[in-house]
Amino acid sequence: MSGGFSAVRVSERVWWVGAVDWSTRDFHGYLTSRGTTYNAYLIKAGKVTLVDTVKPPFLGEMMARISSVIPDGKVDCIISNHSEMDHSGSLAEAAKLLHPAKILASANGVKALQSHFHGAVEAAAVADGESLDLGGARATFIETKMIHWPDSMMTYLHDDRLLFSQDGFGMHLASGERFADELPGDVLLYEGAKYFANILMPLSPLIEKLLERVRKLNLPIEVIAPDHGPVWRRDVMRMPELYAAWAAQRPTRSAVVVFDTMWGSTDLMARAVAEGLAAGGSPARVCPLRASHRSDVATELLGAGALLVGSPTMNNQVFPTVADAMCYLEGLRPRNRLCAAFGSYGWSGEATKLLAAQLERMKMEKVCEPLRVNYVPDGSALAECRKLGETVAAKLRERCGA
Ligand code: FEO
Repeated sequence: MSGGFSAVRVSERVWWVGAVDWSTRDFHGYLTSRGTTYNAYLIKAGKVTLVDTVKPPFLGEMMARISSVIPDGKVDCIISNHSEMDHSGSLAEAAKLLHPAKILASANGVKALQSHFHGAVEAAAVADGESLDLGGARATFIETKMIHWPDSMMTYLHDDRLLFSQDGFGMHLASGERFADELPGDVLLYEGAKYFANILMPLSPLIEKLLERVRKLNLPIEVIAPDHGPVWRRDVMRMPELYAAWAAQRPTRSAVVVFDTMWGSTDLMARAVAEGLAAGGSPARVCPLRASHRSDVATELLGAGALLVGSPTMNNQVFPTVADAMCYLEGLRPRNRLCAAFGSYGWSGEATKLLAAQLERMKMEKVCEPLRVNYVPDGSALAECRKLGETVAAKLRERCGA
């Protein structure tokens, strides 16, 4: 493929040569409502270096963008900051077309590329803190193990004061604009938070350590170039500051009410619980699972101090949609949350007990025993639901201050 796609200059020596995926709506279980980008970058110094590649269907688009700045298609080196397939999936094919003299990755990255490509990609390992001369420009590698995979690293280009931050500080957002300062702030904030909640929340303690480490390195950063979403060239500390706040997971006054229902009873209970929360001064983020994707629930939970889960009992189990959302949320390891379980049942009523046990496993602080209602809640049962909401709100008030 040639023509039609061109590179976008990001800094003196760096061009964006990635791809925009307008149509994807799934990233391993995460609803990417606004599509995404797979960002690859070309460093043009004395040598030409490609940083990361793109998802396989977009190889042609990347190659066309590379050709727009390097007509002879000669690339000396490829740096693979992260071997997840959205960044390395086209690496073997790209290497065949670009003939780089070397492909570099972290030590874990080399192993991961071997396991992905079984010899079709020969990469050499670079060490944490190692620097490389790219033909008059200097790059330093910063290992970021487990952010987002064990192989992950970032690359800092000293001459342009630019950090290739791989999955860090990114978001799933397809756009014609390449820079964050060209996009609406509320969209950046929502999609940045959604990305953090769904991809990085379980790694919060590591992210706090990484931010501290990068702060101590005292690198002047004028551009942050992530592997997804827009490039930050203004207000560059905005995302690192948000990451520090999100990773701290400090409790807030708001609460998430997530539920599903069979015949409307657990729905009624959820609505009464939400009334109680609001009456107690806690904004309730109500997520009926027929209308809310699990990844949107996770996003709401990032900014909430409590999780209240409602499920009917079906065949002695938690309702399947609730089990799915809870399995997903448990994996994201939210910290510092209060919790409660509620739901309606017909004859055995195990769901709320199962949920309470799961919430305990998730190390959430139980505010009260599970609240169960047989069949359809009457006025007195709904008053109990409202009371549950008020109790959680009072506890959140205690935790967060008035
Ligand atoms: Fe964008 Fe962890 O891959």
